Amino acid sequence: MKIIRSISSMKKCIKNERKKGPKIGFVPTMGYLHQGHISLAQQSVKECDVTVMSVYVNPTQFGLHEDYKKYPRDIKSDAALAKEAGVDYLFVPSDSDMYPLGFSSKVIVSNVTQMLCGASRPGHFDGVTTIVSKLFNIIEPNTVFFGQKDAQQIIVIKKMVKDLNIQLKIKALPIVRDSDGLAMSSRNAYLSKAQRLEALSLYQALQKAKELIGQGECNSAKIIASMKRLILRGKSVRIDYIAIVDAEDLSFKKHIKAKVLIAIAVFIGKVRLIDNLIIKV
Ligand code: PAF
Repeated sequence: MKIIRSISSMKKCIKNERKKGPKIGFVPTMGYLHQGHISLAQQSVKECDVTVMSVYVNPTQFGLHEDYKKYPRDIKSDAALAKEAGVDYLFVPSDSDMYPLGFSSKVIVSNVTQMLCGASRPGHFDGVTTIVSKLFNIIEPNTVFFGQKDAQQIIVIKKMVKDLNIQLKIKALPIVRDSDGLAMSSRNAYLSKAQRLEALSLYQALQKAKELIGQGECNSAKIIASMKRLILRGKSVRIDYIAIVDAEDLSFKKHIKAKVLIAIAVFIGKVRLIDNLIIKV
C-alpha cells in the first residue's frame, strides 16, 4: 500500500493506473478507522481492481463549536488497518493542499440538506459536498463506498452526483455494529463506560420502532414518543432529533408506508451520535 500525501502525486498515480484500465474503487473517510470503514474497503477490494481510501478530517464540515480540533486522529493505526484490508493507495492530503489560500468555492445541494442533520448542523453538508466533489475530481473513481450510518449524507451525495452528471456509482453498505448493537463510529472513542451504556438506547429505540411497526402501528408520532421515552431514561442524554422520513427524499411521514428511514441524533453528554434504520412496509 502506498501512502500519498499530495493531490499532484495522487493524480499521477491514478493517471498511471487508468492507463491499465482498471475499475477504481474509492472509500472516503475522516480516519480513526473502525470495522465500519474496513467493511467498505474490503467490499471495494472485492469489486474493484484498485482501491483508494482517503483520510482527511475536513474542517469545512464542522461547525464553529463542534469537535474539529479534538476529532480523533491516528494515522499510524489507520495505515496498518487500511493495508490489512487490501487498500492500494491511502490518500492523506494536507489542509493547505485541499484548501489553499484564496480557496473560495462551495458545492451546495438544496432541499435534502435542510432537515435532520442539515437542520442541526447548518453548513455541514456544504462542507461535505465540497470536499467530496474535490476528492471525486482528484481520484475519478468508478465506484464510491459509503456507510449507511450516514444515511442523509448518502442521499445528499447521490443527489449531487445525479444533478452534476458525475460519472460514478455510489454504493451504500450496511451499518456495522458492536455485538451489543452500538453503531460503530469514530466518535464512540469519546464515550466513557457509563455513557457507552447509555448510547445503547439509540439502537434499542430503533428496535422498539421496528417492533411497533411489526405489530401494525403506523402512526409516526406514537412510534417517536415511544422511542423518546426509552432514550430519555439515560441521565446524560439530550435528543437532537428523532424523525421518520421518506427513505428517498427525506420528507417527513406522519404515517408509515412504503419505505421509511427512522433517523436518530442524540447527544450523550457532549458526544453527538447518529443511527438509523430503513423499514419497508
Ligand atoms: O463520512 C465521512 O467520514 C465524511 O463526511 C466524508 C464523506 C469523508 C467527507 O469528509
